[in-house]
Amino acid sequence: MCGIVGYIGDRECTPILIEGLRRLEYRGYDSAGVAVLEPDSAGTLATRVVRCRGKLGNLEKLLRDSPPTGRVGMGHTRWATHGRPSDENAHPHKHGSVSVVHNGIIENYLALRASLSARGHKFTSETDTEIIAHLVDDELKAGGGLREAVRRALAQVQGAYAIVVLSDAAPGSIIAAKNASPLVLGVGEGENFVASDVPAILAHTRQMMFLEEGEIAELTRGGIAICDLAGKAIQRIPRTIQWSSVMAEKAGYKHFMLKEIHEQDRAVTDTLRGRVSIEKADALLDGIELAPSEMKKLTLIACGTSWHAALVGKFLIEQIARIPVEVDLASEYRYRDPIIGPGDLLLAISQSGETADTLAAVKEARGKGATVMCIANVVDSSIPRACHHALYTHAGPEIGVASTKAFTTQLAALVLLAIHLGRRSGALDEARAATLIREFMAIPQKMADVFGHSPQIQVIARRYGKARDFLFLGRGNNYPIALEGALKLKEISYIHAEGYAAGEMKHGPIALIDEHMPVVVVCPKGPGYEKVMSNLAEVKARDGKIIAIATRGDSDIGAIADEVILIPDAPAPLLPLLTVLPLQLLAYHIADFKGTDIDQPRNLAKSVTVE
Ligand code: G6P
Repeated sequence: MCGIVGYIGDRECTPILIEGLRRLEYRGYDSAGVAVLEPDSAGTLATRVVRCRGKLGNLEKLLRDSPPTGRVGMGHTRWATHGRPSDENAHPHKHGSVSVVHNGIIENYLALRASLSARGHKFTSETDTEIIAHLVDDELKAGGGLREAVRRALAQVQGAYAIVVLSDAAPGSIIAAKNASPLVLGVGEGENFVASDVPAILAHTRQMMFLEEGEIAELTRGGIAICDLAGKAIQRIPRTIQWSSVMAEKAGYKHFMLKEIHEQDRAVTDTLRGRVSIEKADALLDGIELAPSEMKKLTLIACGTSWHAALVGKFLIEQIARIPVEVDLASEYRYRDPIIGPGDLLLAISQSGETADTLAAVKEARGKGATVMCIANVVDSSIPRACHHALYTHAGPEIGVASTKAFTTQLAALVLLAIHLGRRSGALDEARAATLIREFMAIPQKMADVFGHSPQIQVIARRYGKARDFLFLGRGNNYPIALEGALKLKEISYIHAEGYAAGEMKHGPIALIDEHMPVVVVCPKGPGYEKVMSNLAEVKARDGKIIAIATRGDSDIGAIADEVILIPDAPAPLLPLLTVLPLQLLAYHIADFKGTDIDQPRNLAKSVTVE
């Protein structure tokens, strides 16, 4: 999510850091900063931190008159998770002699902050990252050197992190450590580099080593030593990275959309991180406490793909929490003089947090006295700022205009919300909640499993990619997934596609079916399966071509469908997190086959800030 770059060598590092950050700006851009070990007139090194809110350009302006001089340093572009974008929350965070940049989420940061506060520590930001600077500084004072201090500090930390640490009390090295967030080490001649992503350092070296989970690296001018969290040395041989700089930005994928599709298991893991507990059989919403007994009405509003998430949300909340939910398009809702007021909860869903219609609907509901909450991806964007509560998805920046990882993380946030409400409405008992949470935590692994079908989907895309129209069918909570599959195909391949509730097919779309019409049907085993099978018989009787998304182990579907893409099984409320993936890949491969501009489709915008 955030971008990191670090350098130790004999060159002036500020230009290297800024150039590296420029290459990472697509990862995060709400604030930026550098920390450099700068010699004073006597040659003593002191850390100089320069950081500010806003894009990298703001930092460059700050640095223009007196850039830090020094040969050891690190930089960061931030994508906010804990704490809004501000000068104080910008990285690096410094405490005592220790400075830290961080990408990731520290799950136990509230507990760590409380115990540090009890020991007299004072904090100057709202971030989880600052905690690490305090922990390392304490450990460094206890002796053993910087690497050892980082190792001991990390033993107290739970969560995802890629960190780089430097200290003017230990100026001969910089320390990098990773758990669940990426870090790459660049090997140079008399200089070494670290970065969150390859593009940041590709101009300087192609010899790179990727840090693995739970590893710590000590970079000096002369070399890089890696060890695990127990301190055991690890040998790693550098690889030569062949990527061009354009390929490197997309992590080797052909398009940002494909990269983002493949990031979804990681993104959903980040949405869940620290928010579910099997022991407590509960979902925690970052301190937001909702009381269904006091909630008169619950309305979900959104636009585009986020509206499809809202439609799934209705199923989730009604099934799991047994609370009635209304769903509306924000663009319709705001002009209808909606009936809403005190005691009602309006939940807006928005990736960007900037969609004009959604923002206007939020203001309308708030103006009428309702409680307003949002599920958003961009921290402190306009919609979260206009709401009483915000639950962030932590998907990281989404560059492809067609939304993918934002959608599945919205689904994950809605499952969290449904569990939270279900436990408080009494509809979800402890045992069922614990089972559902356990299955929920297994979903990222199952998502990764679905990506293994990409070559098969590529073949299907070539076979049907010349069709003029597509029909997408689904039932229950897979009906919105059919809508989303059709939208993805329309957006990026420009093929006309319609999503329909399978039971509605006989009321119209059936007239379109002939041997040229591919019908994509989302039919995992579960509620409504037999009904969808009957709908498929109707398609087959009219020579339609059936592409089925079915559950592994389904021995009947092959007899009726022309193509079958098998996904792992999961409880019905969680299936949309899996069934949407083949549809994203199908749209992607058809568009790629047609050669359209996948990341920036014609006429579309990532964020629609006009009515
Ligand atoms: C635009 C984007 C869609 C997105 C919709 C709503 O149309 O192209 O991908 O779903 O806006 O955006 P939001 O940021 O509010 O989720």
